[in-house]
Amino acid sequence: MLSRVISGKIRICGIIGDPIEHTMSPLMHNAAFEKMGVAYWYLPFRVKKEALGKAIDGMRALNIKGLNVTIPHKVTVIPFLDKLDRFAERIGAVNTVVNDDGVLTGYNTDASGFLQALLERGIEPTEKKVVILGAGGASRAISFILAERGSNLVILNRTLNKARELADRISQIFQRETEALKLDRENLARALSKADILVNATSVGMYPDIDETPLTADLLSSGLVVFDTVYNPVKTRLLVEAEAVGAKTISGLDMFIWQGALVFEKWTGLKAPVELMREEVIKVL
Ligand code: ATR
Repeated sequence: MLSRVISGKIRICGIIGDPIEHTMSPLMHNAAFEKMGVAYWYLPFRVKKEALGKAIDGMRALNIKGLNVTIPHKVTVIPFLDKLDRFAERIGAVNTVVNDDGVLTGYNTDASGFLQALLERGIEPTEKKVVILGAGGASRAISFILAERGSNLVILNRTLNKARELADRISQIFQRETEALKLDRENLARALSKADILVNATSVGMYPDIDETPLTADLLSSGLVVFDTVYNPVKTRLLVEAEAVGAKTISGLDMFIWQGALVFEKWTGLKAPVELMREEVIKVL
């Protein structure tokens, strides 16, 4: 990859966040750029909270083509942009900025990446009962896109108030009754007894705490689709236990790859080499 020529035609893309050292996006995107033979480079930029506005000014001044946006900037970047796409506006968070001749538009491909990962596996969430664990940024993106797709949602969170706020907003926007419950064993058992799909949108089970799981295996059943948004490890304890009871499982890696593929397509106008992107990330994980 380092053999790629840096000419005057190079378009620069990248990711802003803090911390940024562990991001896998540069690896994935540079491999995709190389494979598709486009003159793009992708770089990590550590941008502190207080420097966000200057970083976006810099994007305009330097004519940077695209930036991914990660923690802690996904919400606070919005006032610095010119436009938001429909999803990003509803979700209230942006993970990608596209620079079209000086006009900066914010998108949320976390949401569409999640949906794509489901659809790719032949799972259509319309009218399905979906149990979502967590009420943070990831849950928000997933809840909004599922509600729009016509799923019936139950949101469980350790902090009940945050689940309530999210559920109320969804009920209001989509006119869909959305239940909010405290994340405990009793509520989980009740919600899961009627569920088609379970989504873990908490950080429980993420490296280095790989022995943790948001629920015990006895609550899982073979008819469930279990989607874990955690992608490191690729197979979390939740997914291993779900597989053991015969449930269909989807790793957060699929969501990560698809959000990246959708970003690639926005920046280059080309179809993303999804399989290569997946292989590159798996090599490192
Ligand atoms: P992200 O952008 O990845 O969603 P976040 O916005 O910080 O990150 O949200 C993390 C989610 O994981 C929250 O729903 C959080 O629950 P609280 O709202 O109660 O904090 C959930 N979470 C994190 N650690 C958890 C744990 N040990 N048990 C249960 N839920 C946890």
